[in-house]
Amino acid sequence: KSILVLNGPNLNMLGVRQPEVYGRDSLADIARACAAEAKTLGLGVDFRQSNHEGELVTWIQEARGRQAGIVINPGAYGHTSIAILDALTLTELPVIEVHLSNIHRREPFRHQTYVSQIATGVICGLGAQGYLLALQAMANLVNPKKA
Ligand code: DQA
Repeated sequence: KSILVLNGPNLNMLGVRQPEVYGRDSLADIARACAAEAKTLGLGVDFRQSNHEGELVTWIQEARGRQAGIVINPGAYGHTSIAILDALTLTELPVIEVHLSNIHRREPFRHQTYVSQIATGVICGLGAQGYLLALQAMANLVNPKKA
């Protein structure tokens, strides 16, 4: 089993899209960094992006029973999609929500996300590093360190 790292709409444009908000790393750069981090943590990683809500829902459903956990940057769908919330819930998997930007110091419509209702943890405002922190936390969630 591995960790599904899901990215929602417009995240394929990272590096080009408002770099002052989202940073200069491309999504491919983040995918590479996640693969390297996962390797040191002894985790497998399945890194994906879609601009389509239904495709994200299908991938989340398929993770049930097959993946160990989900790290998700839902992009704008986090603020709007009850379908993605429902899909994450039915997987019964640990979920960590990541946003590159600090959504709480941005427009009010970004302050709330449906994904947060189900997420074990939420990381925002730390840029691409947030994905790596999420993987570190996920390693501990799926394979707790013995005290
Ligand atoms: C984002 C924040 C969302 O509000 C926005 O719609 C995105 C990116 C982030 O990573 O900061 O597409 O999820």
